[in-house]
Amino acid sequence: MRLTRLAVRDWRNLHAAELWTDARFVVLHGDNAQGKTNLLEAVWMLATLRSFREARPRRLVREGSRLARIEATSTGPAGTRRLQLRLGDAGRRLQVDGVAPASLTAWFEAVRAVLFCPEHTSLVRGGPEERRDFLDRAVFTARPAYLEVARDYRRLVQQKAALLREGRASAAELAAWNQRLVDLGGRVSMARHQVLQELSGPVQAMHAAIAGPGADAGQVELAIRSLGGEEQGVDEVRARLQAALDRFGGEERRRGRVLVGPHRDDLVIRLEGRLARDYASQGQARSLVLALKLAELAAARARGQAPLLLVDDLTSELDRGRMRRLVELLAHLDNQVWVTTTDAGWLGPLPEGEAVHWRVRGGQVFGGTRREEPDSTAPSEEAAQAEASAPPGSPRG
Ligand SMILES: Nc1ncnc2c1ncn2[C@@H]1O[C@H](COP(=O)(O)OP(=O)(O)OP(=O)(O)O)[C@@H](O)[C@H]1O
Ligand SMILES: [Mg+2]
Repeated sequence: MRLTRLAVRDWRNLHAAELWTDARFVVLHGDNAQGKTNLLEAVWMLATLRSFREARPRRLVREGSRLARIEATSTGPAGTRRLQLRLGDAGRRLQVDGVAPASLTAWFEAVRAVLFCPEHTSLVRGGPEERRDFLDRAVFTARPAYLEVARDYRRLVQQKAALLREGRASAAELAAWNQRLVDLGGRVSMARHQVLQELSGPVQAMHAAIAGPGADAGQVELAIRSLGGEEQGVDEVRARLQAALDRFGGEERRRGRVLVGPHRDDLVIRLEGRLARDYASQGQARSLVLALKLAELAAARARGQAPLLLVDDLTSELDRGRMRRLVELLAHLDNQVWVTTTDAGWLGPLPEGEAVHWRVRGGQVFGGTRREEPDSTAPSEEAAQAEASAPPGSPRG
């Protein structure tokens, strides 16, 4: 899957920006606060219909505007699709090839992505919610139909919680809800266990490749911890859920909360046998998260999917050795990789002819060259603006 065109209008600080590329690496470079992450965020918005750093849609629309628009052309197994997303006071509107998509799954067939950004070290060190989200997203990246299972389960938990809070449900009523929870929660758990199995090998390999030779290249282990203890496999997930419900049903009623189910699980990450959450250094956490994200890509690839990889502010985060090894790894992926950086020189040599560089300045994009252009040779604002609005097919990356 590749994006061959991205155009935004009144998105964040980008009034009107458009870029085309058939390259595997898209490097968005420029000084601080120019709009690099905003562009990457636009791609992520298409891939997930959410921002990775802003929950309030209003903030995504350029100040002084009422409507933001993101358009892209994506090419992948599902063919070539024109995607359009509009965001305004009236909410969100989606179009695929000019018509509203039949379902969200139809939309996500056309664009999916895996994201790494500096804040993601909280995946290792933060609370369980982020790790559950990571697992769910990893399932979704490989199998977009999982979206509905996860959503139905979330709704079920909310409904059961409301019922428990009211405190008037009969035993028979609760038993019926619990039956659904075992079914749907079982499917969520199974999907997570399956993806965990698919992640385990790649995460180990990716981590070793990034950390390089030395003390850090330790064994990484992943496990899911639920109320019934650490689960080792997909077997007996339902039986465990049922047993936990039998055991904690009384407490759920007393406390008016849904205590049993995969919405309370955690992903346990161990490095050399120690809990990464408690022991990993900042750099180790970063390498672990990168390994997890690259493993997510590998798991998707094993299912015939090739999502985009988005990497925000890569260069500020890793030491030279890790950086070099990471770029080496990225160079061997088939996925299209979008990177933002203040200094593309840090990236080291990207595969010849496979990278295209766009300079982001003051909410506009310039260039589309095979190499990073020093700022002095960058086109004047007017010339670049004329170029930026040239029609597709003009000679550029
Ligand atoms: N809704 C909005 N309207 C106008 N400007 C906005 C909006 N939201 C964010 N901005 C501005 O966009 C600017 C660029 O942000 P962005 O995060 O893309 O910078 P960046 O190029 O990634 O910089 P850095 O290298 O520091 O990460 C910021 O200065 C921010 O104030
Ligand atoms: Mg940024």
